[in-house]
Amino acid sequence: MSTTIFAHRGTSKYAPENTMAAFHLAYQQGSDGIETDVHLTKDHIPVLMHDERVNRTTNGSGYIKDFTFEQLQQLDAGAWFASEFAGSQIVPLDEFLEWIQDKPLYLNIELKNNKIDYNHLEMIVYNRVSHYHLLHRTTLSTFNPTSLRRLKHLNRNVGVALLLSKRYKKLVPMAKDLGANAIHIKFRLLNQLLVDKCHQENMAVRVYTVNKPGQMQRCFAMGSDGIFTDVPKVAVHYHNQFGA
Ligand code: G3P
Ligand code: MG
Repeated sequence: MSTTIFAHRGTSKYAPENTMAAFHLAYQQGSDGIETDVHLTKDHIPVLMHDERVNRTTNGSGYIKDFTFEQLQQLDAGAWFASEFAGSQIVPLDEFLEWIQDKPLYLNIELKNNKIDYNHLEMIVYNRVSHYHLLHRTTLSTFNPTSLRRLKHLNRNVGVALLLSKRYKKLVPMAKDLGANAIHIKFRLLNQLLVDKCHQENMAVRVYTVNKPGQMQRCFAMGSDGIFTDVPKVAVHYHNQFGA
């Protein structure tokens, strides 16, 4: 079984995370897929950013939810990372979907609704992905179990994943009960028993954020179905060499 390599926020080690530059680089470096994070603006436009606030990755400050899309577009989303990326803009989900449409890449769109439960985020994202005919190669993931249920209500066939950063006793039955097709877990939670249990229940296991060759090899050896990495080039190299 092969492990799918997702570029985490794009190739976020070498370009500003969640920008088109980071997505382009992921494609050039041979990623199988791209992971990105989505929030809603004040005027309900889905945009790709990791944090709830723009402070860390732009020259602005405040919550995404308090900016209109047009206001967000005025911010610089690249200069914080390196001067060569100055002038990069925050990417609307639509731009990303349009770009990826003709590329053989999987998508993992993480709904960032565990801190702010944006109204209708599930339906908005689902509709956009569906509009671009990308549902068959998309997984929607969230740390918010209620949101996962809402996604399954929209369409029981949509691929959804429960994100986990902590250990839970009855993790596999809980994920199964929610209708998850996969669990996305922090690397330190990975163990063979968990992978095997998930596979018995027909659930995939993907692991974040895997940047070291030793960690990558552990994921490949245990049969994890995917990894999220800031350095897809390294992962592709080791996967070709040692990948199961
Ligand atoms: O989706 C995997 C991973 O991105 C989850 O954590 O904080 O990097 O979005 P985070
Ligand atoms: Mg993420």
